Amino acid sequence: MTTPVVIAIDGPSGSGKSSVSKAVAARLGLAYLDTGAMYRAATVWVMETADLEDPTSVATAVRAMPLVMGVDPAAPGVELDGRDVATTIRGTEVTTNVSKVASNLEVRAELKRRQREIIDQESSPTEAVLSGGRGIVAEGRDITTVVAPDADVRVLLTASEEARLRRRSLEVHGAADASAVDATRDQVLRRDRDDAKVTSFHTAADGVVTVDSSDLDFEQTVQAVLTVVAQQTGRE
Ligand code: DC
Repeated sequence: MTTPVVIAIDGPSGSGKSSVSKAVAARLGLAYLDTGAMYRAATVWVMETADLEDPTSVATAVRAMPLVMGVDPAAPGVELDGRDVATTIRGTEVTTNVSKVASNLEVRAELKRRQREIIDQESSPTEAVLSGGRGIVAEGRDITTVVAPDADVRVLLTASEEARLRRRSLEVHGAADASAVDATRDQVLRRDRDDAKVTSFHTAADGVVTVDSSDLDFEQTVQAVLTVVAQQTGRE
């Protein structure tokens, strides 16, 4: 049996972090955790059950949030109170409000606790034997620094602002011409600014390997991360 491995990947929006992390998990046969999806689900829950402008109400709601995260990289489900919210959490209103919820320190403490629980479960030797699991790839903004600073492999996936805006624009508008990129710019840069107030994902912490995907296509980026994993764990 191989020892379970924990791979932490952080990066700003548009760095390709989610799709790359999913592909790395699938290829190595690992579980996958999208922590951004947890902040997004928390935002849906707060919008439905609490007062977004009241930090105490937000924190209380999130502590009671009935959230179940799927960890299969081929179909990572997000279930909120028994409902599949995988599509809802990508909506514009959620994207606009998510930084407000993510900047609440009590929310961060609660989600960190839940993320840690999932990571520990997926990387415990017992679980690895029972499920055939070999560990987990967890991605977000503070996984390499706060949630799993003890991960076996820690990667910061970056890309130039231009490359990130182009990718986000293609994702949201299906185009990357000048006007589509312009429409994306405000939202992406504002969210980066808000997120950077509570998490540090623009520079790599000590021991974190930076992979710059600006001039790499998707497959090359996946290979670059797999190379770091192979170098640091011998896992291929
Ligand atoms: O990666 P994403 O765009 O789905 O993340 C949604 C929001 O959640 C983003 O605004 C930053 C926040 N987030 C965070 O604060 N910490 C994480 N570990 C992951 C996401």
